[in-house]
Amino acid sequence: MTRRLILAFTFAVLAACSGGDQDQRIVLGFSQIGAESEWRTANSESIKSAAQTMDIDLRFSDAQQKQENQIKAIRSFIAQKVDVIAFSPVVETGWDAVLQEAKAAKIPVILTDRAVTADPSLFIGFIGSDFVEEGRKAGRIVAERFKDATGDVNIVELQGTVGSAPANDRKKGFAEVIATNPRLRIVRSQSGDFTRSKGKEAMESFLKSHAKIDVLYAHNDDMAIGAIQAIEEAGLRPGKDIFIVSIDAVKGAFQAMIAGKLNATIECNPLLGPQLMTSVTEVVAGRPIPKRIVVDEQVFTMETAKQHIQSRKY
Ligand code: AHR
Repeated sequence: MTRRLILAFTFAVLAACSGGDQDQRIVLGFSQIGAESEWRTANSESIKSAAQTMDIDLRFSDAQQKQENQIKAIRSFIAQKVDVIAFSPVVETGWDAVLQEAKAAKIPVILTDRAVTADPSLFIGFIGSDFVEEGRKAGRIVAERFKDATGDVNIVELQGTVGSAPANDRKKGFAEVIATNPRLRIVRSQSGDFTRSKGKEAMESFLKSHAKIDVLYAHNDDMAIGAIQAIEEAGLRPGKDIFIVSIDAVKGAFQAMIAGKLNATIECNPLLGPQLMTSVTEVVAGRPIPKRIVVDEQVFTMETAKQHIQSRKY
């Protein structure tokens, strides 16, 4: 072996031992809620692919809908000394202690998708939708559709996960708008945990207890899709006998709208990955990021669904 070759070999071995280029990558610990909905799947894919594109070493942990698993994952990220921690909190409360631990370890935390009620100094930014506004948009669609109603309009509501920001806020925004018309009454409201199966179960129970249901408001498309099945099994026509509005605007909702079974969906954009990775690189570079980044959203109805479905990314 020539002298030059020996030197090159020695440098390569030294670089490999010290981790080489790998060590230069930003390490991001991300705790995801789970895989409860089509929205969540799109959100996870967006985060994973953006990390890959931006060459960020992503440590991704799935909490299977449990807050305790998210807390464990965050503690493990702290122990691993990651550069940044990000997470989508399953519920709003109960985060103070673990966020204090991250702060004490000097690891910046970014929230994505859902908010927490903790002291705002415990996280540096929050990227996600305005859930109250989404609820208002759904309320406006219902208020407009039934503005000339002469009798009571019976509404049933499928709430998201109990204690979660989207369930709390979407309920609040919707209630605020429908309060403007005393004919609009929520006769039943129950959690379907953002899943199709529980949405179906809850709708079956609504149909058993109420002979006349005019409107279904579901906090996400998956629950609406489950409920549509229950409505059909009860011999009713979803989208016609019962006016249905939900939130997310996932592909499944577009298919249901095109089939005439869902009247409208409010967009909740899950494609947060690129924005998150940009924020992570900014933070690591020591630059400030906005405390709140709100995502743009649209409203889609059954009348316009066909022209949009091809361009939908999730
Ligand atoms: O937090 C966003 C919500 O969570 C989406 O609307 C829902 O589909 C998901 O499970």
